[in-house]
Amino acid sequence: MDEARRARYLETLGIEIWRKRSLPQALEADRSRPHEDAPSRGSDDAWEALRAAVRDCTKCALHRTRTQSVFGVGDVRAEWLVIGEAPGAEEDRRGEPFVGRAGQLLDAMLKAIGLTRGENVYIANVLKSRPPGNRDPKPEEVASCLPYLARQIELIRPVLILAVGRIAAQNLLATDLPLGRLRGQVHAFGPLNSPLIVTYHPAYLLRTPTDKRKAWEDLKFARSVFRELLARGSRH
Ligand code: URA
Repeated sequence: MDEARRARYLETLGIEIWRKRSLPQALEADRSRPHEDAPSRGSDDAWEALRAAVRDCTKCALHRTRTQSVFGVGDVRAEWLVIGEAPGAEEDRRGEPFVGRAGQLLDAMLKAIGLTRGENVYIANVLKSRPPGNRDPKPEEVASCLPYLARQIELIRPVLILAVGRIAAQNLLATDLPLGRLRGQVHAFGPLNSPLIVTYHPAYLLRTPTDKRKAWEDLKFARSVFRELLARGSRH
């Protein structure tokens, strides 16, 4: 991406200054396998079966109040996977994750590191159904829904997962640590030990624009880790 374009995205993010940040030792957390060993991506049939299972899911009470489940969107061969918390009102109506104001900011964040929704990035949530009134997900809802996300990860085998927001990060990493303690490291998620990086939720950034600078640090960190993983020839 050319610098002028990047500058425009950064302006949308409210970020003016670029600061260099070194790669952390946390890359040690990369337990990825070489490309040659990676199994093939999920077949159309596997995706269709998963999509139907999510569409018809009644494992938790949220199926009674949702308009529809929100499966996820994007490139099923993507190297990047973005994971949010749960659909909001607009997402529940439209059946697509991150389509409201927070979604627009997420798209700008992705653009800032050269990514476009639908191209080499897949977007999903921890919960596939909207919690009424946008309350936090309940543990039993997360427990019911997480296997669907785990299956999506198994089918996509992304190079890097970006968890946006405290709720997504804490549920994925099974921790109570605050977001500030989870940023700036490469975590490992799930049975595939998929590399996972944490940043702020775009809805939080809309409420707290002063933290956009820190989000940009996270995005640069994610981009450099991603490049490092690619250079090592890793794909989960
Ligand atoms: N917030 C999320 O975490 N996910 C969405 O899909 C929309 C808003």
